[in-house]
Amino acid sequence: MKLKSKRIVITGGTSGVGYHLVKQLQLDNQVIVLARDQDKLEQLWKEFPEIVTLKVDLSQANQVNNVVKQLASQFSSIDVLINNAAIQNTATFLSNDFECQSIDDEINVNFRSICHLTYHLLPMLNNSLEGTILNINSALGLVPKTSSAVYCATKGALNIFSQSLQYQLENTPVSVLQAFLPLVDTAMTNERKGNKLDAATTSSKIIYGLKHKQQINDIGKVRLLRILLYIFPWLARKILRNY
Ligand SMILES: NC(=O)c1ccc[n+]([C@@H]2O[C@H](COP(=O)([O-])OP(=O)(O)OC[C@H]3O[C@@H](n4cnc5c(N)ncnc54)[C@H](OP(=O)(O)O)[C@@H]3O)[C@@H](O)[C@H]2O)c1
Repeated sequence: MKLKSKRIVITGGTSGVGYHLVKQLQLDNQVIVLARDQDKLEQLWKEFPEIVTLKVDLSQANQVNNVVKQLASQFSSIDVLINNAAIQNTATFLSNDFECQSIDDEINVNFRSICHLTYHLLPMLNNSLEGTILNINSALGLVPKTSSAVYCATKGALNIFSQSLQYQLENTPVSVLQAFLPLVDTAMTNERKGNKLDAATTSSKIIYGLKHKQQINDIGKVRLLRILLYIFPWLARKILRNY
């Protein structure tokens, strides 16, 4: 896919991996960023005045419906939908600081909103010659860790959803791709230690996968994890357990 003059909708483009995707993609494409924080959206628009920003809290179903209507009223087609926004609650169910509401928020942002956006934007993706849905996934969608159980489950669900959707769409012009990320240095992981891939490099690798329409784009250490899962699944689970 030639990433030139494409219309690209991306969720969560105001920070981390999403920010770097916007920074790189807006050079040659029309980028529409969906995120929650109005100040961050304005800041982003000042930095990249060619982009379109739309404010939406993806945890709220009515706001997702509204933003879909806004998109449909402004654009007849979309070439690429990048489902990037996600949240992660690291507390365990036994922690005193575990908030029950976080279960709904994580499921709604990380999974339900993606299903709704995909369903409602499919006609616009179908109007493109090479409509593409790119779901940003995680190593934790393949093997869970102990903390962040709901986050891991939403990423596992996203993996299965993406594969099934690809089957559903195989006789249409729309493709479904996934990028599986290792630990990346962003706001989501700022309390984590260890070897983190930087967000700019990660975004370049995601864009490479998009250009080459890679259905599965394993980034960094996820490549090794996938091999380990095949040969020694018990070892993969042992390593990821306390990740
Ligand atoms: N960082 C990692 O180590 C890592 C590893 C594997 C996979 N990933 C995946 O990579 C993707 C990007 O993660 P990141 O690390 O770049 O995260 P991040 O820096 O925390 O950025 C998250 C983005 O999502 C948006 N967002 C969060 N909640 C939202 C909501 N309710 N409604 C609308 N937008 C919302 C945020 O916008 P606002 O600030 O406006 O809310 C922000 O732009 C995610 O899918 C994540 O699961 C990350």
